[in-house]
Amino acid sequence: MTSPILVTGGTGTLGGHVVPLLRAAGRDVRVLSRHAREPEEGVAYVTGDLLKDEGVEAAVAGSEIVLHLAGGPKGDDVATRNLVRAASRAGVRHLVYISVIGADTVPLGYFAAKLGAERAVAESGLPWTTLRAAQFHDLVLKVVRTMAKLPVIPAPGGVRMQPVDAREVAARLVELTLGDPAGLVPDLAGPKVYPMAELAHGYLRTQGKRRPTLPLRMPGKAGRAYRAGENLSLEGAALGVRTWEDFLAERVG
Ligand SMILES: NC(=O)c1ccc[n+]([C@@H]2O[C@H](COP(=O)([O-])OP(=O)(O)OC[C@H]3O[C@@H](n4cnc5c(N)ncnc54)[C@H](OP(=O)(O)O)[C@@H]3O)[C@@H](O)[C@H]2O)c1
Repeated sequence: MTSPILVTGGTGTLGGHVVPLLRAAGRDVRVLSRHAREPEEGVAYVTGDLLKDEGVEAAVAGSEIVLHLAGGPKGDDVATRNLVRAASRAGVRHLVYISVIGADTVPLGYFAAKLGAERAVAESGLPWTTLRAAQFHDLVLKVVRTMAKLPVIPAPGGVRMQPVDAREVAARLVELTLGDPAGLVPDLAGPKVYPMAELAHGYLRTQGKRRPTLPLRMPGKAGRAYRAGENLSLEGAALGVRTWEDFLAERVG
């Protein structure tokens, strides 16, 4: 019998794709969540909070493989250090982490925390694999739905995105999780690069709506990093297949 794979963030957008894939590969899964849930076929839930460092040891106990997807706008470095400490004590033999493209280059708090988390994983002494992915279509959809409520579409000059399908990220992570520890693997980004406003206009078209565009300049260091494409992966990345248009047609079209 193989030990269950611990998936943190198994209840999130990405985790919702990962868990069924691990099940389809014949693996039992244990999900760490802040909220209690009833077990399902081959999926057990353990209640805990990575940021508060509660329930983490119990979640890790008896799992040889940990796939760490839990994350939020703040504190991924702290949460990951708490997980790494418990995983080290438990002798985990493969720790897999999902990070973001630009973790090492975009000067914003979220990216800095992802870099801190990456370092905690790489310096854990445990065998590890980290994948950096671009923004998921689902996140872009949330952003453009908010933008679509405005009378004009803000168009920060030079800011581009390369959104990727969360299902493709999930499939890659499952492959990595079931493979040997590989360190920092090539990024996974979407197949096309879009100016931010084009993503919003694409969404508006599916709603039969149009809005004028308001050009603006994203200020500061973060603006410079975005204009330089630090959030993109244009060389050496693996590219997904599903485009933003494909996603929209499926989800809101
Ligand atoms: N979204 C993107 O575009 C994108 C791009 C690149 C990388 N990533 C990374 O991919 C990962 C998953 O993203 P997602 O969009 O699927 O996230 P999501 O839908 O927002 O889900 C977040 C998950 O993290 C768990 N979580 C949050 N805080 C926690 C805590 N303190 N303790 C334990 N669990 C906690 C939540 O579990 P409960 O609510 O059940 O506790 C939930 O399962 C994150 O690490 C994110 O940084 C995301």
